[in-house]
Amino acid sequence: MLQRIVKPVMVMVLLLISHCTFATEGMWLPQLLSGLNEKEMKGMGMKISAADIYSINKGSLKDAIVSFGGFCTAEVISDQGLLLTNHHCGYSSIQKHSSLQNNFLENGFWARSLNEELSNEGLFATFIIRIEDVTKAALKDVKPGMSESERQSAIDKRLNEIRETTKKESWQDIVIKPFYEGNQYFLFVTETYKDVRLVGAPPSSIGKFGSDTDNWVWPRHTGDFSLFRIYAGKDGKPAAYSKDNVPLKPKYALTISMKGVKKNDFTMVFGFPGRTTEYLPSEAVKQTVEILDAAKVEMRDAALKVIDSYMRKDPQIKIQYAAKYAGTANYWKKWMGEMQGVKRTDGIGRKLRYEAEYTRLLNDNPALKQQYAGLLDSLNDYYRQIQPYAQTRDYYSELVKNVELFNAADLVISFLNQVNSSGAAQYTELREKFLAGMKSTFYQNYNSTVDHDISIELLNLYNKGVPETFRGGQYAEIWKQNNNDSRELAKVLFTSSLTSYDRLAKVLNQPYANAVEQLKNDPAISFAIALRNSFVDQVSRPLSSLQAKVNQLQRTYMQAQMDVFAGKKRFYPDANSTLRITYGKVDSYSPRDAVDYDYYTYLDGVMEKYVPGDYEFDVPAKLIELYKKKDYGRYGVNGKMPVCFIASNHTTGGNSGSPALNAYGQLVGLNFDRTWEGTMSDINYDPSICRNIMVDIRYVLFIIDKYAGCTRLINEMKLM
Ligand code: ARG
Ligand code: ASP
Repeated sequence: MLQRIVKPVMVMVLLLISHCTFATEGMWLPQLLSGLNEKEMKGMGMKISAADIYSINKGSLKDAIVSFGGFCTAEVISDQGLLLTNHHCGYSSIQKHSSLQNNFLENGFWARSLNEELSNEGLFATFIIRIEDVTKAALKDVKPGMSESERQSAIDKRLNEIRETTKKESWQDIVIKPFYEGNQYFLFVTETYKDVRLVGAPPSSIGKFGSDTDNWVWPRHTGDFSLFRIYAGKDGKPAAYSKDNVPLKPKYALTISMKGVKKNDFTMVFGFPGRTTEYLPSEAVKQTVEILDAAKVEMRDAALKVIDSYMRKDPQIKIQYAAKYAGTANYWKKWMGEMQGVKRTDGIGRKLRYEAEYTRLLNDNPALKQQYAGLLDSLNDYYRQIQPYAQTRDYYSELVKNVELFNAADLVISFLNQVNSSGAAQYTELREKFLAGMKSTFYQNYNSTVDHDISIELLNLYNKGVPETFRGGQYAEIWKQNNNDSRELAKVLFTSSLTSYDRLAKVLNQPYANAVEQLKNDPAISFAIALRNSFVDQVSRPLSSLQAKVNQLQRTYMQAQMDVFAGKKRFYPDANSTLRITYGKVDSYSPRDAVDYDYYTYLDGVMEKYVPGDYEFDVPAKLIELYKKKDYGRYGVNGKMPVCFIASNHTTGGNSGSPALNAYGQLVGLNFDRTWEGTMSDINYDPSICRNIMVDIRYVLFIIDKYAGCTRLINEMKLM
């Protein structure tokens, strides 16, 4: 009897073990793969070696990956410097070249020759030449018992020295960053190209298909890509924009696989993930999802509702607020997914179990026990103490961000400070510059009626969410003068001269002293100053001293985890916008009872979502025609056109535009998002539901070739 039970149980255990022998969590440092990951990667199906991914002696995959403008990733896909990234990463460049006559956002843009490629001021592409561990030298003067600021200046002094003595070419730069919460330091020698030109972009009805409704959602049908090209000086080195610059001859260009992927195929994503916090203690995870995310979601929810109601009835407001709405909605939606995901996977319980295991192992080791006694409790305790301050910080930053009038007040205040420090003689010149900037940026897309209505909602929420002791002084005084009623207060605030460009210009066009006098009494400016002062006096000072303590304990706890689990668990450093590789498998998932998501989408799904004329789900006529004729050229499979797929690669913001590579290191897709249920991967990665979303490279090629007829670009690429 017993035997009969034992046997199936044994089989199950073995199955579980064999299923779990690989881990897909982790954003790994490319120069450490051979020691830490190569064996596992090969076990999962990888056919190349760690040296093919990162090498300083020969061209390797890393030489094809760039940080795109510091906020996204892009990759070189031809030996003429052609760059592939997301549509949403190229969005502001595409927007800047767009006008009503040439609306590239709406209609797409395709340069038919090198001459037609468009330059983008301020956009850059940074390659990583080599990475070095400089921990020892960086921490050389750090002594036990140092305060946080003493420690930091001891480190900064050493870092300056390292920067000065490290060998590099004249056109290269050096970046040093802390890892593992400041326990380790790595140095990057980089090369930044500043002439990056726009080459091609599909219309938004392909590149942003599904827009906010589909954002963070699977199944997905977005062709989220755009093309750029790196130009170099005639010597091949980085150079400022010049029409004489030439397409870059890269050290390495990715080859492209036409084979697609199937379930369980090995994939890796290589790029620049921005920020994660995977090693927080349970109290911090709880605080993040239950308090901080909730506060930010609440504020944005109210702001978005107001904007949406106006966008629906006023086409002018719809244009003005489209980008702001998308920007605000992106993380609003992400945080909601994060809150739900942590709950659904019992993320807090998981942390508590991890902490119990940590404590058990710690207690088994007398030396470590002595070194780290009380650490975890103390860290959790500091997180409890910091909570009301952190919560207020988030309410404050959402208030100032979403009520644009407060934003304008801050801009005017810093302009006046600038005049103050340069001298009143400079006033006229500085004023012209300031006003021109305000006109083309702030007021271009500003509607004071929308803003007024947002302010009523958010001021109320702020007072509800922030403890009374943090809302004292002049701030409380102004509320009292307005009977503690946000409607009355808003009415007064919006009599401000900052509510329109013309009114602001009228004030500033007076002599300097008169302008200052009038602005001093402006209700929006006085209120913004009172708000900021109450925050600085009562919140940000205690917050920063508590934060310094938390940072110190968090750094020690990071080291403690690495010591306690030494040999039992591998640790990857939290994302910090440096080059990382993550790997996983193409995989479906089941987010909740009776729901199973397949791992591929097809053009058929685009047509299922098609709503003629809709701003999110319209489909271009040419694409419908190609679909009807099944005219997919060499890019379709069995009469179908693949569009997107998912896998268990551990990615985050900044990984947008990163290449998805197959077992041979060939390009199979372009990373651009994560699934709704898995956005909590930034604090609590769970392989059962965390998936990254990629557009299939064949869909990208199909759009370039069959939809746009830009075969000159296809001819540059190496298709396998
Ligand atoms: N969620 C993706 C990321 O975080 C895509 C955002 C762009 N798309 C949008 N509809 N806002 O960047
Ligand atoms: N969409 C994100 C980005 O732009 C990627 C992510 O958060 O998964 O980087």
